Amino acid sequence: MEKFVINGGSRLEGTVRIGGAKNSILPVLAAVLLNKSGDEIILNDVPRIRDVLMMIEILRSLGAKVAWEDSNRLVIYTQDVNIYTIEEQLMREMRSSVFLMGVLLTRFGQVRFSHPGGCAIGPRPIDLHLKGLEALGARIREQPEQGYIYASCPRLTGADIHLDYPSVGATENILMAAVYARGVTTISNAAKEPEIVDLQNILNKMGARVRGAGTDQIRIEGVNQLSGIEFSVIPDRIVAGTMMMCASATGGEIVLENVIPAHLEAVTAKLRETGAQIREDNGRLHIAAPCRPRAVNTVRTLPHPGFPTDLQAPMMAMLAGADGTSVVIENVFDSRFKHADELRRMNAQIIIDGRTAVVRGVSRLTGAAVTASDLRAGAALVVAALGAEGETSVDGLQHIDRGYENLEGQLKQLGAQIRRIND
Ligand code: UD1
Repeated sequence: MEKFVINGGSRLEGTVRIGGAKNSILPVLAAVLLNKSGDEIILNDVPRIRDVLMMIEILRSLGAKVAWEDSNRLVIYTQDVNIYTIEEQLMREMRSSVFLMGVLLTRFGQVRFSHPGGCAIGPRPIDLHLKGLEALGARIREQPEQGYIYASCPRLTGADIHLDYPSVGATENILMAAVYARGVTTISNAAKEPEIVDLQNILNKMGARVRGAGTDQIRIEGVNQLSGIEFSVIPDRIVAGTMMMCASATGGEIVLENVIPAHLEAVTAKLRETGAQIREDNGRLHIAAPCRPRAVNTVRTLPHPGFPTDLQAPMMAMLAGADGTSVVIENVFDSRFKHADELRRMNAQIIIDGRTAVVRGVSRLTGAAVTASDLRAGAALVVAALGAEGETSVDGLQHIDRGYENLEGQLKQLGAQIRRIND
């Protein structure tokens, strides 16, 4: 089993480049399957993380040809894709494969998949995905004896769809399904995350007619054909935010390259409340944290442009060592406070009541043996360990590796004492 061993207390300093966004590349890797032509699709800035490698396996299992041309450049041919069943094993490993539902349905008129797996952060239903596809004309049948859900419709038809909640995945799934639907589809109360704008951008470059992404109203005019293109995904705002938390936990001063500061506004605003100085210069973000962060009144996770749920755990880890008491409210997912138990092993003072956590900052966290229970909980433990006194070992790296490419390398480059060991 691999672990990180981290010796806390080193102030982070230096420059680091942020790679492509996990939450952008995953739907983009589904979108490429809409290309029925023989043209190649080239994707740049693709992070080599476990979720991406898994998605590539799924694409290959469907008949796509996918090759790395460079360390972060993928070349994909999808003309020979001829399978519409996603193997249960692959689907179980990665919830994001749920995007493939709309794509395969619209390409083949049918799709078969098992209920998706993914992070252990509470039940993650797919009712909004299914309702949206049904509104486009899909017939959905459960095949419980085989453990599959089967959806079919010879050709989807545009519809007006209102989402009860602005789900990121449901918005992306319906958007992709509607690309080949007859007529016009509108999605209202759509999610507004930057990754949805990125998806609109790649689809339109391929020849789709989508507009409105980034607002709560998206309009898709169905087309008959898409073609190959070259595309670079946006930088990962969650990785950037994690680095900012690492800098804050260590009183550091770092520069982030390849970031879109507008995607990080909610995070920047909160970090400024802790006393950090943050400025933008030429597409780079410069963060100078105080020796010890100040507590913040409240951090409330919300759909974009609110504070992202994916940074709630890293933010809590940083606040665990802040001066004063902070309140953290998780509004997006149920049971997304698993990291609190592990942080307590490091002497954090955290009380949880339902969706609310009260974090009383201690002057110094202490190193301990801790385990990541999911991706962002793992990132939180790394943030805490960097600011803690003594040595911390972080187990469960398979979760962290789902979403961070060479995290230890990036942190080492900033002066952290972190190594990956196999024991
Ligand atoms: C995406 C991100 C994830 C992020 C989340 C919220 C990807 C690959 N993952 O996940 O990192 O934490 O957005 O920003 O982009 N819900 C339903 N029914 C549904 C769908 C969702 O009730 O059919 C609920 C979920 O249980 C959850 C909330 O809606 O409570 C938000 O989920 P959603 O926005 O769909 O997140 P994901 O797309 O799964």
